[in-house]
Amino acid sequence: MLGATFVSIFAAIYLCAGHTQARSRTCTISPHGVGLDDTDQVLGAIAKCGHGGHTVLQDGVYNITRKMTWDLVDATVDLHGYLSFVPDIEYWLDSNHTYRVVFIQSQASWFVITGSDFLVDAHNTGGIQGNGQPWWDFYSQPNETRLDGDGRPISLTVYRAQRGTIRDFAIQAQPFWCNCVAESQSIVYDGMLCNASNSNPEFFGTNIVPNTDGIDTYRSDDISLLNWDITCGDDCLAIKGNSTNILARNVTCRGGNGIAFGSLGQYVNLTDIVENVFMEDLTMTRINATIQPNMNNGVYFKSWDGSVNGVPPTGGGGGGGFLKNVTTRNVVLNQVNRPTTVSQTNGAMAGDLPSTYKFEDLHFENWRGTALSNEVVALECSAVVNCTNISFSGLNVSVPAGETPEFVCQNAEGVTGLPGPCVA
Ligand SMILES: *[C@@H]1O[C@H](CO)[C@@H](O)[C@H](O)[C@H]1NC(C)=O
Ligand SMILES: *[C@@H]1O[C@H](CO)[C@@H](O)[C@H](O)[C@H]1NC(C)=O
Ligand SMILES: *[C@@H]1O[C@H](CO)[C@@H](O)[C@H](O)[C@H]1NC(C)=O
Ligand SMILES: *[C@@H]1O[C@H](CO)[C@@H](O)[C@H](O)[C@H]1NC(C)=O
Ligand SMILES: *[C@@H]1O[C@H](CO)[C@@H](O)[C@H](O)[C@H]1NC(C)=O
Ligand SMILES: *[C@@H]1O[C@H](CO)[C@@H](O)[C@H](O)[C@H]1NC(C)=O
Ligand SMILES: *[C@@H]1O[C@H](CO)[C@@H](O)[C@H](O)[C@H]1NC(C)=O
Ligand SMILES: *[C@@H]1O[C@H](CO)[C@@H](O)[C@H](O)[C@H]1NC(C)=O
Ligand SMILES: *[C@@H]1O[C@H](CO)[C@@H](O)[C@H](O)[C@H]1NC(C)=O
Ligand SMILES: *[C@@H]1O[C@H](CO)[C@@H](O)[C@H](O)[C@H]1NC(C)=O
Ligand SMILES: *[C@@H]1O[C@H](CO)[C@@H](O)[C@H](O)[C@H]1NC(C)=O
Ligand SMILES: *[C@@H]1O[C@H](CO)[C@@H](O)[C@H](O)[C@H]1NC(C)=O
Repeated sequence: MLGATFVSIFAAIYLCAGHTQARSRTCTISPHGVGLDDTDQVLGAIAKCGHGGHTVLQDGVYNITRKMTWDLVDATVDLHGYLSFVPDIEYWLDSNHTYRVVFIQSQASWFVITGSDFLVDAHNTGGIQGNGQPWWDFYSQPNETRLDGDGRPISLTVYRAQRGTIRDFAIQAQPFWCNCVAESQSIVYDGMLCNASNSNPEFFGTNIVPNTDGIDTYRSDDISLLNWDITCGDDCLAIKGNSTNILARNVTCRGGNGIAFGSLGQYVNLTDIVENVFMEDLTMTRINATIQPNMNNGVYFKSWDGSVNGVPPTGGGGGGGFLKNVTTRNVVLNQVNRPTTVSQTNGAMAGDLPSTYKFEDLHFENWRGTALSNEVVALECSAVVNCTNISFSGLNVSVPAGETPEFVCQNAEGVTGLPGPCVA
């Protein structure tokens, strides 16, 4: 009680001092109803109350039919219902109908939040309905050959934002990446559900939800990912180039590839720096194979190799840089294929140059659970740089009955704490 009182007194002083009238402005809307378009009224409310005000989207489903940016400054948005993005695939794939603000792999966005000092609270009752099922079905057609960067939209993009919080937010059926934070500082995501679960029996037992990453971080600093629950068919978290001071705590990954660092070094002309990452209380758990057959890794690190093979979004390589000071602590694995790997051969072809990308200061503390292979640790690092300073403590992952845990250290120096010998 005392805490709450202090908060409200503080809020009142803050409101009076800084933003006398503007901040007291409130815009409240409700969905127009089935068959009608809510995009104009949502954008209208944000235009009116998004700077120094309070916007309330009451419970229900908001029909969103075109791309949308929320520019929020000193603002609060209470999103009690769902923003439902119409599943008109051909419409969204027209490059004029999405934003291309995420530089890496030229990814497309249908909803961008930008600005500073904002809170978007979806109260565990709202967020985004991505209507992904028709998208997943579409991309599962055998004649469908479009690849990454073809314009499939990211569900929620936070771009060029500072000091923002996204709270208790659900994203159902993301067609592609669930979240991306790019070119931003000091963003807290506290409570995030992403749920790419196929329900079309035609595709039971296959992963028809590739690229449904929980979040990709890029060119961003001071990002907190707290209390996440991700069901996907790809990277649960993907920490990409120039992500620094990243905190993840209490993250559950259901199916997919696990937590990724990378792929790094895709752009030969750009240096990728990843530094000061702390993650704890992570769970990687295999789910019903009918819905999602993959649970590939615990936490894994990957770079492209040293040669350029094609151009992004789908090709690339040859980029340098370093990843330094990454700790993962209290990790529970339930039947993952491979608990942890470093690989530096993304996009590699015979005769390619080794990667110059450097992985150093990796720390693994208190990992437990089960793996479906005996390859518990596989550090397959580049010979021209080596990985260095890699410590393990409390590594207790069991392998299938009758098998012996295996630890691989190729071009890895300063590896400590493994419970058995590490072989090249
Ligand atoms: C969304 O709005 C469009 C009109 O822009 C309409 O054709 C469509 O039926 C609406 N969808 C829903 C689910 O209400
Ligand atoms: C996109 O918009 C530009 C400028 O308005 C136009 O020239 C181009 O033809 C449009 N592209 C498509 C695919 O509609
Ligand atoms: C693939 O086949 C479906 C019909 O099965 C058709 O509707 C669709 O246009 C085709 N897509 C391409 C890219 O040819
Ligand atoms: C995830 O999506 C599936 C399929 O739509 C649904 O059955 C399930 O309830 C969802 N889970 C959560 C936690 O929302
Ligand atoms: C962890 O996050 C989940 C939501 O993903 C939440 O329900 C749970 O209470 C959190 N656990 C702790 C200890 O905070
Ligand atoms: C790096 O190369 C990409 C193309 O692969 C290009 O779009 C980008 O502008 C280049 N960036 C710099 C800083 O040269
Ligand atoms: C990362 O930051 C460095 C400078 O600190 C810059 O040279 C490099 O181009 C950046 N890389 C990307 C992917 O933006
Ligand atoms: C490593 O990163 C953590 C944050 O994750 C930070 O607190 C610590 O100071 C960093 N260590 C070094 C040596 O920079
Ligand atoms: C897995 O999901 C399928 C499809 O929803 C369902 O029929 C089956 O009972 C589930 N299996 C288990 C073990 O829950
Ligand atoms: C290894 O990493 C730790 C923590 O990041 C750091 O404090 C230590 O100095 C590093 N040791 C070496 C030999 O680089
Ligand atoms: C990599 O480590 C090996 C074994 O410790 C060492 O002989 C070699 O010189 C190192 N290479 C580089 C590039 O540091
Ligand atoms: C490793 O975990 C198993 C259960 O999975 C447990 O029985 C065993 O005591 C643990 N060993 C250590 C050294 O913690």
